[in-house]
Amino acid sequence: MGSRRRRQQHHGRWVVPSVAPAAAAFVAAGMLLLVVAFHCFLSPPPGVGGGGSFVRRPNPPFLLNKPGELRRNLVGTVDFTVPSGGSKLGEELWVSKSAHNFVGCSNATKEFADAKAVTESNRYLTIATSGGLNQQRTGIIDAVVAARILNATLVIPKLDQASFWKDASDFVDIFDADSFISSLSNDVKIIRQVPERNGKTPSPYKMRVPRKCTPTCYENRVLPALLKKHVVQLTKFDYRVSNRLETDLQKLRCRVNYHALQFTDPILKMGQMLVQRMRAKSGRFIALHLRFEPDMLAFSGCYFGGGEIERRELGEIRKRWKTLHESNPDRERRHGKCPLTPEEVGFMLRALGFGKDVHLYVASGDVYGGEETLAPLKALFPNFHSKETLASKEELAPFLPFSSRMAALDYVVCDGSDVFVTNNNGNMARMLAGRRWFINKMCVQEIFRAQEDHKAQF
Ligand SMILES: *[C@@H]1O[C@H](CO)[C@@H](O)[C@H](O)[C@H]1NC(C)=O
Ligand SMILES: *[C@@H]1O[C@H](CO)[C@@H](O)[C@H](O)[C@H]1NC(C)=O
Repeated sequence: MGSRRRRQQHHGRWVVPSVAPAAAAFVAAGMLLLVVAFHCFLSPPPGVGGGGSFVRRPNPPFLLNKPGELRRNLVGTVDFTVPSGGSKLGEELWVSKSAHNFVGCSNATKEFADAKAVTESNRYLTIATSGGLNQQRTGIIDAVVAARILNATLVIPKLDQASFWKDASDFVDIFDADSFISSLSNDVKIIRQVPERNGKTPSPYKMRVPRKCTPTCYENRVLPALLKKHVVQLTKFDYRVSNRLETDLQKLRCRVNYHALQFTDPILKMGQMLVQRMRAKSGRFIALHLRFEPDMLAFSGCYFGGGEIERRELGEIRKRWKTLHESNPDRERRHGKCPLTPEEVGFMLRALGFGKDVHLYVASGDVYGGEETLAPLKALFPNFHSKETLASKEELAPFLPFSSRMAALDYVVCDGSDVFVTNNNGNMARMLAGRRWFINKMCVQEIFRAQEDHKAQF
């Protein structure tokens, strides 16, 4: 896609056609979308900003330093130099000064009764999750809350094995079931299987609840079925519990997500090994969760600079969704609603002050345009890694046939990174961002603030 975009690079200057990618990237980056977070690591000094390749330019490089110019450049050709070195920020790029002011608070209040006191016998709730790994994770979290609302015993959730991602894994292949059951034992009684009755496992009564069902909604819709049938399965269970919950139920969500749900040992060990290999290379690293699949690009209704070929290809895919509105790509982009291209992510990271020597771990699926699309990002950040480059085929073999286990590995590495950045607002990105906030890692606004402070000194 790079060449289709008519971008030329000469003498370190990049010329990019009008509104499209680069300039808009900064607008988007400044306004929204990007969730970069830090990990306060006391690891060796960062590689950022160092190295012989840093060339100090007479003018502070990059448009972020000249907002006025950025606006001018929105019309007509954007022409700017890309520094290869990092910013003067150094340490502040990697460590947030105020992170220690944040404390996760998932412990139950005194008013929250023990599970033993509220669980009614003969009420069994089971769920069937839906979607990819992280969408299923939201379902699992909400299932615990739903069981608590209903005073029911929860049966270990059934994972979605027929989704687009096709993965035959069971809950126990991905998550540590013992830890799930025991760490929530004060909150909800959880069992592995519905107890047999007359030598048979009762088959559940299946039903579906609306999206964001409130506690009252559960009491009105599910409780009667549960009292009558005793075993109820809620199907397609994702985002089925309201966000308007009393504090103790919200805290329960946090306990499930940030404490009870642990990956199985093989996944954790492999993921941590990948983190160690990243650290061995560079001390600190950035994890990028990049989504740039053709279908999500088509769905976005945006234009990514690929000319007629792209318009035709994405237009074709777009026909899949009958209810999709006619889109206005320019407006979508102006409103910051377009996923950043890999190149734009690279520009943004460079603008924030991450130099060419920084190591990048990239978690991504299919990339539209393949290597050609990734090339500009790799030119900006040549230390470009993924699980496939860090691990051997043999090491990855046990995970490879299982999309959810592969996604779990990426989750572990992104979670272990110093800085996390994403170009999308999907389930995994939100899950990881939330987790970083919860466990004292900071978000991108910190970098922008540090940039401002730095400028104010001159
Ligand atoms: C929450 O509970 C855990 C375990 O009971 C305890 O170790 C921790 O200190 C508590 N945290 C807060 C903030 O009270
Ligand atoms: C669950 O138990 C609590 C405490 O006994 C009770 O107040 C509540 O009404 C019960 N809810 C349901 C749905 O059974």
